[in-house]
Amino acid sequence: MSDIKPVHVLNGPNLNLLGVREPEIYGRATLADIEALCHEAGARHGVGIVFEQTNHEGVLVDLIQRAGQEACAIVINPAAYTHTSIALLDALKGVDVPAVEVHLSQPAAREPFRAPSYVARAASGSISGFGPMGYALGIEAAVQLARARQNHPVKGK
Ligand code: DQA
Repeated sequence: MSDIKPVHVLNGPNLNLLGVREPEIYGRATLADIEALCHEAGARHGVGIVFEQTNHEGVLVDLIQRAGQEACAIVINPAAYTHTSIALLDALKGVDVPAVEVHLSQPAAREPFRAPSYVARAASGSISGFGPMGYALGIEAAVQLARARQNHPVKGK
């Protein structure tokens, strides 16, 4: 039994296609492989993992709001909504749990429209370019942030 709420790992559009989607960019790991890796990382750090994927922006908003109640921290790969969604930014700002932004690829090294991230404005930090390993790193960071807040509760992230 963990002393801390679970980390919610939230995934945005088209990430359900991992494994077949542009493998030269995203590799061959499937989302199920990444989910398994996240559960392993959670077990190493003594937290449960709730793993979700949706292709719908509003559903991601709902999942962020739920995480605000039920998670100790959020790890989020917002996929293309990273670069477009003020709604996701507002949702992350509206919940009192830390968020870590994760990308498989390195968006800043790709097309110019991938360089800006709305989500980064509400994230404690971002991890990009390490493939699936980024999720494990994100979970480690999220747990550290959550435990630091548990030990020294302060308003803010
Ligand atoms: C991504 C990068 C985004 O620019 C892209 O739209 C994605 C995946 C990544 O994990 O590298 O769908 O978030």
